[in-house]
Amino acid sequence: MITDKVLDNLPQEIRRRVEPYVEAVQLMTATNNAKVLRSMAPSGVRGLILQRGKQGVPTLMPSHHKVHFDWTYPNDQPEMRELYTRAKEQQWNGDDLPWHIDVDPENPEKQILSKQFMDFEALRSAGIRLTDLEERRLNSSVASWMLSQFLHGEQGALFAAAQVTEAVQFFDGKLYGSTQVVDEGRHVEVFHRYLDTKMNKLYQINDNLFVIIDALIQDSRWDVKFLGMQIMVEGLALGAFGTMYQMTKEPLLKELLKMVIQDEARHVHYGVLALRDHFRYELSESERREREDWAFEVALLMRNRFLSFEVYEEWFEHKLTRKEWAAFVTASPGFALFRQVMFKRLVPNLRDIGLMSDRIKPHYDRAGLMEYFGGASASQLSGDQMIAELDAA
Ligand SMILES: [Fe+2]
Ligand SMILES: [Fe+2]
Repeated sequence: MITDKVLDNLPQEIRRRVEPYVEAVQLMTATNNAKVLRSMAPSGVRGLILQRGKQGVPTLMPSHHKVHFDWTYPNDQPEMRELYTRAKEQQWNGDDLPWHIDVDPENPEKQILSKQFMDFEALRSAGIRLTDLEERRLNSSVASWMLSQFLHGEQGALFAAAQVTEAVQFFDGKLYGSTQVVDEGRHVEVFHRYLDTKMNKLYQINDNLFVIIDALIQDSRWDVKFLGMQIMVEGLALGAFGTMYQMTKEPLLKELLKMVIQDEARHVHYGVLALRDHFRYELSESERREREDWAFEVALLMRNRFLSFEVYEEWFEHKLTRKEWAAFVTASPGFALFRQVMFKRLVPNLRDIGLMSDRIKPHYDRAGLMEYFGGASASQLSGDQMIAELDAA
């Protein structure tokens, strides 16, 4: 296999072309669980090597789940029924956001991400000097990139929510799921409107995000769809939205994120409810272990590889290697904060659904993620509490 050392000795131009493939192979051989490898590898090939998310429209994905009907309409899950009631009461209209606000992401007073988000000093020491305006533009590109990934994630969430509404066996879960489909449709609407009319820029889907969405949409097992979307992608998105909500000086985006966070808090709560007992009582130990390893793989995929390469390709492809860019982004204060807040939300949810056994803990520990183990999970925190916590921080 090509190692980092071999890569370092390649001429810049060849290295630039080979590096994404090497990353793909490293990703697909990172897990020791053969079942996880088998279920993730085809998505890895489609996302990282064939770059299906970047090959124009449409992207067609076959789905293989079973649609679960129940003609007796049982009240089987009181907590899900309560979430359904709350979701109906808390519906909102994206048109009511203050869209009249004039957004100028290059204005230092109204920047979407704070000036300290990127460490421009580190760029300078790598030989790249940007003017003040270029720094603000790069900052704005990163903000557009993040919001674009939020939007693409929301499209995945919209279809995954529809699939799990069909596939789940709890009737109260199906009713609740119908509200989530509406919520996700609204999130697609507002993020797209914001990018289209305020940022005038939309980035393509990040290859790693594509891999995760492809894997969960095509997996026939409802609980893997749930785990992928409701716990992993939504949990991480909740953290990312929260960080941006805290950081942004732009009032329209702040309001938009506040509304979206309250919906997402319900979605993650639903994921925890649906999976908690299923993982504990319904699965064999080897099935549970497979989910545990799958979740860890996805956590790593999001921690290590969600690094704005699409911005790199636009700005620095001929000036920095991917590795240098990755090191720069990983060390930047804004991304570090993102990672921290994302895992603060995610790890307690994994604990609550029984995917943090003593066997896997050392892996999370090595990845620096065990410090979040004792936090509150989604079933212990409402959307209002999350917003209050973010406002107080
Ligand atoms: Fe959403
Ligand atoms: Fe959601």
